[in-house]
Amino acid sequence: MSRFIKKDGMHRSLEGWPLVFTVLTTVAILVGGLVQIVPLMLAGDAETRIDTVEPFTPLELAGRDLYIAEGCVGCHSQAVRPFRHELERYGEYQKAGETVYERPFLWGSKRTGPDLARVGGKYPHLWHVRHMEDPTSTSPGSIMPPYPWMLEKDANLDVLPRKLRALRSLGTPYTDDEVENAVQIAQQQAEEIAREIEQQGGPANLESKQIVALVAYLQRLGTDIDQAPETAEQEHDAGSAMEEPTAEARD
Ligand code: HEC
Repeated sequence: MSRFIKKDGMHRSLEGWPLVFTVLTTVAILVGGLVQIVPLMLAGDAETRIDTVEPFTPLELAGRDLYIAEGCVGCHSQAVRPFRHELERYGEYQKAGETVYERPFLWGSKRTGPDLARVGGKYPHLWHVRHMEDPTSTSPGSIMPPYPWMLEKDANLDVLPRKLRALRSLGTPYTDDEVENAVQIAQQQAEEIAREIEQQGGPANLESKQIVALVAYLQRLGTDIDQAPETAEQEHDAGSAMEEPTAEARD
């Protein structure tokens, strides 16, 4: 062996023994993996929890499912990174504890459109209704596709009790009452939002429609921590001409 080492170095000679090399490589990878994974498992998630972060309401969950089904995540991230330019544009960067109830997570990896992690409360409900029906009506020149059927199709609320139960089995703290009455709770919130849309001058009777669930979800995003983006009002991307939020948006 020492002859090998002198000639080509230890690494070279190890490579000459495929089986030994494979075993040693595997051991090295396992050790590296354990060093990373074991502390995370031991620590649990106590450190990342944020007291003010609550599970989604049933209606917001229904909206979230639409967001997934329509593939919004393909164009929108939900992760504000801790960089100056992102903080100025989107607001406070995202903490791990903010997404503890996200199953599956929707951080995304592509931003054809802006990040949505802090979009909640940025615009009035009606803005979202108009934007989804025809993005260019609120954002001239927008390349976002329209989703007009969301104003016509009914949201599927029947699955909610089962959905809440499944999430609860994975650790989301829904109460028995919330699971059993998920549909009624969702309908109540939908009626409230539909009323507000009408008050803002939008179409009436949207309470059963998909758009209301989606609006509930979008308006929730990023609002669980009390650090709304102060600069959001000035936000203006050079490429997209987005309408300034009105006073109602900040309510
Ligand atoms: C093909 C890419 C694409 C897809 C798919 C897409 N968007 Fe967008 N979205 C954009 C672009 C580009 C903008 C910026 C221009 C605008 O406001 O329309 C935008 C803007 C937005 C805004 C306004 C954000 C802000 O801070 O002003 C919201 C809210 C939004 N999208 C929601 C959605 C939802 C919900 C879906 C799925 C139903 C979706 N988008 C699907 C490209 C996309």
